[in-house]
Amino acid sequence: MTDTNGTSRVHQAAINGTLEGRGPVDPAWSARVRRLAEERGAVILAHNYQRPEIQEVADHVGDSLALARLAASSSAPVIVLCGVYFMAETAKILSPSRTVLIPDAGAGCSLADSITADQLRAWKAEHPDAAVVAYVNTSAAVKALADVCCTSANAAEVVSAIPASREVLFLPDQFLGAHVRRVTGRENLHVWAGECHVHAGISPQALREMATANPEAELYIHPECGCGTSALWQAGTGDLPASRTRVLSTGGMLEAAKSSQATAVLVATETGMLHQLRKANPAVRFEPVNPHATCHYMKMITPAALERCLRDGETEVFVDADVAAQARRAVEAMITIGPATASGSGPGSGSGSGSGSGPVGGASASGSGPGPVGAASGPGSGPVGTASASVPAPAAAR
Ligand code: 13P
Ligand code: SF4
Repeated sequence: MTDTNGTSRVHQAAINGTLEGRGPVDPAWSARVRRLAEERGAVILAHNYQRPEIQEVADHVGDSLALARLAASSSAPVIVLCGVYFMAETAKILSPSRTVLIPDAGAGCSLADSITADQLRAWKAEHPDAAVVAYVNTSAAVKALADVCCTSANAAEVVSAIPASREVLFLPDQFLGAHVRRVTGRENLHVWAGECHVHAGISPQALREMATANPEAELYIHPECGCGTSALWQAGTGDLPASRTRVLSTGGMLEAAKSSQATAVLVATETGMLHQLRKANPAVRFEPVNPHATCHYMKMITPAALERCLRDGETEVFVDADVAAQARRAVEAMITIGPATASGSGPGSGSGSGSGSGPVGGASASGSGPGPVGAASGPGSGPVGTASASVPAPAAAR
């Protein structure tokens, strides 16, 4: 195990590790990476969707919320973020005095690209009293216009922390927004019509076919998925097993996997997640709902790119000081809300935060029930929200 610095320990587990179905981790590469990290004073943080080799060599593996919390608490002079660009920006916002590196600065995010700062300004102008909740999958410029950020691990808690009478603008993911609306039962939540191309591609039909072929299996569904709303609907009608259908962040999936008694679990999210799940509970058969659900942005962080990054100190991530100062308020509010188990842990053992919600029976009992996404989504429709102790008051001038 390691502390958040994680800079001084040789990663024997990684060096001796194996990549399921793909042979051993290259021990010479692992040793070079760990040596370079130590020389640079770098902590390596990796998202659950990273390539198995990267997960194995990292100091910590976790979901978005866990990585943000780790970046905020790390005392390492250098943070290497093995994930996508908005995650590296978030680390820089939270730790402005540290050097933040990303192995490939081209690692973007289709979801983050689905709303610009100008679009958000225009949406806010239509709803001047609304609280703005921005998913962490957004640019720093968009975060700077938000009142509070959230991840899939704490989205419902963040929205619930806003007084019920106040309008909320939730962005940019329409499927997560529909999920939050269902869980919180909030009618005054307006949802932006963005989506992640990877999760949107996990269809209700694929889920139904897999569930039919594996009647004993549990279902873990990431709330960004295109199948999420209909899965909850189908669980409500008995088409899917309600007691075994769970909507979870990636960290929540990992927590659930550790204690699962199921023989099989069908996983609706990016396929990189399977590495941690299979390690967490080898007795369970974890299968992807869509084996082609791969985020090519996440996979841009190759072993060669990580080694180059540590060797050459590139690419450094910068966020404009004014934008960072505005965004910090919203991001810091985010990391104080939600599941407390916010740590990716030690090399390759990676836990994350959050439990999302589920089983479905519990979620739908407190929610407003599944409905067509169109009803919940689209900029500028629906009702209200307010701020609480943990959610900063809106900055009207932004
Ligand atoms: P988590 O917040 O569950 O880590 O997933 C977010 C995601 O899609 C990262 O791109
Ligand atoms: Fe963005 Fe989707 Fe890739 Fe996550 S999986 S980084 S949301 S494009």
